[in-house]
Amino acid sequence: MKKILQKENSILRQVAKEVAVKEITSLKIKKIIKEMTDALIKEPEGVALAAPQIGYSLRIFIVRKNKLKNEENAESKEKEVFLVFINPKILKTSRKKNLLKEGCLSLAGVYGEIWRKEKVLIKAHDENGNKFQRGASGLLAEIIQHEIDHLNGILFVDKTANLKTYEK
Ligand code: CO
Repeated sequence: MKKILQKENSILRQVAKEVAVKEITSLKIKKIIKEMTDALIKEPEGVALAAPQIGYSLRIFIVRKNKLKNEENAESKEKEVFLVFINPKILKTSRKKNLLKEGCLSLAGVYGEIWRKEKVLIKAHDENGNKFQRGASGLLAEIIQHEIDHLNGILFVDKTANLKTYEK
């Protein structure tokens, strides 16, 4: 099982490389995605994970779809479903921003308030190599911006004006 790297690790500070489109369906990438989902499932609070967080400097992130729903459903025992974004690019954002509270699995024990665009339009490849576009708002829009920052070597603490620590 891959450990989630913490902020001192220099891999988190690299600009991750694109995955060659013909490699998306390779065993190597399938294995990395499986390692990502396994690592994320182990974190009860985790909603998303970027490949650099388990040591792969590649432009891949996953979102735990069940966690996007309301609390009640999040507790249910339904099967975990992951959204996979490979080589994601933000095409458009709303002008409107919201100040949101954010944490990160690579920054245990801290959270901060961050300005994030309210809506984003993103394009990416899925795990089958298919191109897709999707619009997102609310929590998913925030997650997409946070994860793309990871792919660019940026952690939310670089952007927060208001860092707080909490006890687990
Ligand atoms: Co994070």
